[in-house]
Amino acid sequence: MNNTNEIFLHFIKETPKVYEKSTSAFWDDEHISKYMLEAHINPNEDGATRKMDFVRKSVDWITACCNGGEGKTLLDLGCGPGIYAQQLAEKGFDVTGIDFSRRSIRYAQEQAAEKRLNIRYLYQNYLEMDFREEFDIIILIYCDYGVLAPEDRAVLLKKCRQALKAGGILILDGWADGFLRAFEEKDSVGY
Ligand SMILES: C[S@@+](CC[C@H](N)C(=O)[O-])C[C@H]1O[C@@H](n2cnc3c(N)ncnc32)[C@H](O)[C@@H]1O
Repeated sequence: MNNTNEIFLHFIKETPKVYEKSTSAFWDDEHISKYMLEAHINPNEDGATRKMDFVRKSVDWITACCNGGEGKTLLDLGCGPGIYAQQLAEKGFDVTGIDFSRRSIRYAQEQAAEKRLNIRYLYQNYLEMDFREEFDIIILIYCDYGVLAPEDRAVLLKKCRQALKAGGILILDGWADGFLRAFEEKDSVGY
């Protein structure tokens, strides 16, 4: 049996513990990130970024919550290929996006250059960021807060607190109760 088969068999036999950390760089994997990027930029699917209609409404909502974007600094955590970051920059926010998918960050930078948008993109793990009182708003979109292990949530909240200016706003989303009640755990293995 070759090594790949061994890993695969281990994978389907062992159920990981809730929030057990993986050693594989899922988001930054050469193969996975390619298909992930395709999913992100598909405006009609909710695969990795929500559908474009929903994104636009969210951007309007965020802008309204902040009384407009002009003159405000915004940090987009897990910005992916910059779908929100771009639209927020167009609303006048001074945007910084962080993501640890090299492919997504590269794509986001190319798009910003093409559209002449001044967005700062950083290839970085947001659990290791170190900003101090730099931002008026921080966003974390697509329920990613719930994906973090409890100890990582504590780290992130502390870092956000440190990165926000006094009176700054943290905006994040989560699954609604109805969705969670309807949630069923399933196993599915495909090749
Ligand atoms: C579900 S996607 C959402 C992307 C974007 N917020 C959106 O809605 O279009 C999650 C993103 O977070 C990034 N990500 C996850 N954990 C991260 C971390 N610790 N540091 C930086 N980026 C992270 C992934 O690379 C991925 O691009």
